[in-house]
Amino acid sequence: MISAPLTKARQYEDTYKSLIKDEERPVFHLSPQIGWMNDPNGFSYYNGAYHLFYQYHPYSTQWGPMHWGHVKSNDLLHWEYLPAALAPDEEYDAFGCFSGSATELSDGRQLLVYTGVKEIPGPGGLREVFQTQCLAVGDGLNYQKYEGNPVLTAADVPEGFSTADFRDPKIYRKEDGSYAMVAGNRTDDESGAILLFESEDGFHWHFASILDRSYNEYGRMWECPDFFELDGHQVLIVSPQDMSQMGLEYHNGNGTLALLGAYREDTKTFTRQHTQAIDYGIDFYAPQTLLSPDGRRIMIGWMQNWDTCVAAVAGNKWFGQMSLPRELSIRENRLIQNPVRELETLRGRRIAYENIPVSEEVILKNVYGRLVDLTIRLRPQSPDSYSLFRMKFARGSQHYSSLSYCPSSSTVRISRSHSGYNRDFVHERECFVRRQNGEIKIRLILDRYSAEVFINDGEQAMTMTFYTPLTADGISFEAHGTAFMDIEKYDLR
Ligand code: FRU
Repeated sequence: MISAPLTKARQYEDTYKSLIKDEERPVFHLSPQIGWMNDPNGFSYYNGAYHLFYQYHPYSTQWGPMHWGHVKSNDLLHWEYLPAALAPDEEYDAFGCFSGSATELSDGRQLLVYTGVKEIPGPGGLREVFQTQCLAVGDGLNYQKYEGNPVLTAADVPEGFSTADFRDPKIYRKEDGSYAMVAGNRTDDESGAILLFESEDGFHWHFASILDRSYNEYGRMWECPDFFELDGHQVLIVSPQDMSQMGLEYHNGNGTLALLGAYREDTKTFTRQHTQAIDYGIDFYAPQTLLSPDGRRIMIGWMQNWDTCVAAVAGNKWFGQMSLPRELSIRENRLIQNPVRELETLRGRRIAYENIPVSEEVILKNVYGRLVDLTIRLRPQSPDSYSLFRMKFARGSQHYSSLSYCPSSSTVRISRSHSGYNRDFVHERECFVRRQNGEIKIRLILDRYSAEVFINDGEQAMTMTFYTPLTADGISFEAHGTAFMDIEKYDLR
């Protein structure tokens, strides 16, 4: 049975989706069918296709009662819109179907797990919030909420942990076929924590352990966890709210962390060994991963930032994009990210130049565009021959975005200060990078309204969105002193 709120959302999609022309959307980054999109949910491979759900409010370009939007794809780049999968239509999720995940049941059906949110008026005008974990079962198109919902409630949360901030379950299957999930939480001291739950059949759940907690070190509430094994390490991904800046590693506000460590199944304990930011740019949050049929751990994130949602473009009928799916690996105790290799199938014309001296502004023939996969190798002419390198892109007579590299501090900075935004919020971010034999390698992926930068084969990623008019498609290079660069550029289709 499809409920009235879900039928209404599906009809709304059908009626209004054609209002958005293809040219108004990014080409190979997902945007919502209509309205608002935040976190990726239920990122999974099911019945021969990649499925992705997303936090969704079809009726406006602002966050509202959360539905789950739904798309599927064969290559992680071209997404087919499917009808909305979940709507807030039960007493326990009346305030919204918050973030969650998906796995396949032993009988071949797909299991969705999400946070049902209920809010009731409390004393003094405050609201009382209940966040519980709920299930829905389906066939890749239609999903029925489980009659036993919610399956995890306040009663399953250990003493001293929050029942109001208890959300974003990430489910996975263990080697023996049983199920586990990690969920975000907050302790009485207001700092983040991740709880582990287990189940034999996917329907009956119990608390297993406290996997990690921040003791006020990394922000407050930890949202959207993911937990998996990668290259001999155990990785816990979390998205903390309310971070305070720490050097160039962590910026203020909502951040993303990768915690690398070891997991012991017998004690169900995780020992954290290395901690790093996942993306050093402006717009990346709440990432989630899947394991592809060929064994790749692939991550996708919300390519947006909670503090800049006020910048929805006037007149747009959609807001929010997903990042490129990224292949993950671990090198020297760091999480490495690179765009999925499928991106190479979108490559068209190739232009390459070698050993180009850069000092005064250089514009190279056929190096321009807003759909671009561009790789630069940069080196000095002689030690200290340049003090700053800058590349401008999405450049027109009045606008540009930029990436600069300063060899003495070994930092890369991205900036959208001149991209045409008319709100005063963060427009620049900077991070440390490594120079290898004096050289650095920078890969820039442009898709109409975003730039994703991968440094030194994925050691750092920096992501930002911008809504510069599409006519601004120039690319130029300049340096203080003289640098040399090799450049390889593909147009993307
Ligand atoms: C993260 C988040 C999640 C929550 C969802 C609500 O961006 O706040 O914790 O489930 O968004 O839309």
